[in-house]
Amino acid sequence: MININNLTKSYDPTKRAAVADLSLHIKSGEIYGFLGPNGAGKSTTINIMVGKIVQDSGTILIDGVDTFAHSLETKKIIGYVPDEPNFYEKMSGQEHLNFICDIFDAPVEASEKWASLFELSGALGDPIASYSRGMKQKLGIVSAFSHNPKVLVLDEPMVGLDPKAAFNLKEALRQFCDGGGTVFFSTHVMEVAERICDKVGIINRGKLLASGSFSELRSRQDETLEQLFLELTNEE
Ligand SMILES: Nc1ncnc2c1ncn2[C@@H]1O[C@H](COP(=O)(O)OP(=O)(O)OP(=O)(O)O)[C@@H](O)[C@H]1O
Ligand SMILES: [Mg+2]
Repeated sequence: MININNLTKSYDPTKRAAVADLSLHIKSGEIYGFLGPNGAGKSTTINIMVGKIVQDSGTILIDGVDTFAHSLETKKIIGYVPDEPNFYEKMSGQEHLNFICDIFDAPVEASEKWASLFELSGALGDPIASYSRGMKQKLGIVSAFSHNPKVLVLDEPMVGLDPKAAFNLKEALRQFCDGGGTVFFSTHVMEVAERICDKVGIINRGKLLASGSFSELRSRQDETLEQLFLELTNEE
């Protein structure tokens, strides 16, 4: 469902590439975790996938469609949660959801179930400026689910969520995949990836070190990987 082929992106040609020759293949129905330390290249990959920045070379295909050549077509089927929630803060939560559903030509009623799951329904009448960091994060997640995407792309979605909301997100992602959706999400926390994902890709300094199920990766005798696992453990 998501095919990343030889993706390379450099912000500064005198420095090493933020993402270097990255190739990854994610099947429909999978929850795929993109795990790596700060500065590894996770957000860069995601930002290319959702069309916020352009790669130097390589391609990303979503459902067989090139995200660069057919950006509008692919944007229609992606639900995206950015690493920093960013809204028109004068809008109420409900106005924001109406706006998102309008853009995607989706019925706004679909968002009600997600708002209720994340216990945000009671706050939807309030201006977003009055929301806490966690509430903004929840609104971003509800927005991403609301327009009935085929693929969810989430950049560090657990940041700011309390344990209950984090659990609800995990359940919601599982339901989404059981219904045929595909999830790609980044995290720098090993436990988060292990709890949620079917498969995981380990990225460091722009390069993919390994991709597979946790049990596969753990059974490898690879010192670099073991060291990285240690660094990514118990951060929260
Ligand atoms: N807008 C930018 N301009 C210049 N360099 C950038 C920019 N964004 C990212 N980088 C660099 O690219 C590399 C990868 O950054 P990226 O944001 O993709 O990492 P990340 O894995 O998402 O990290 P984090 O866990 O901190 O979110 C880093 O070396 C970073 O300094
Ligand atoms: Mg990031």
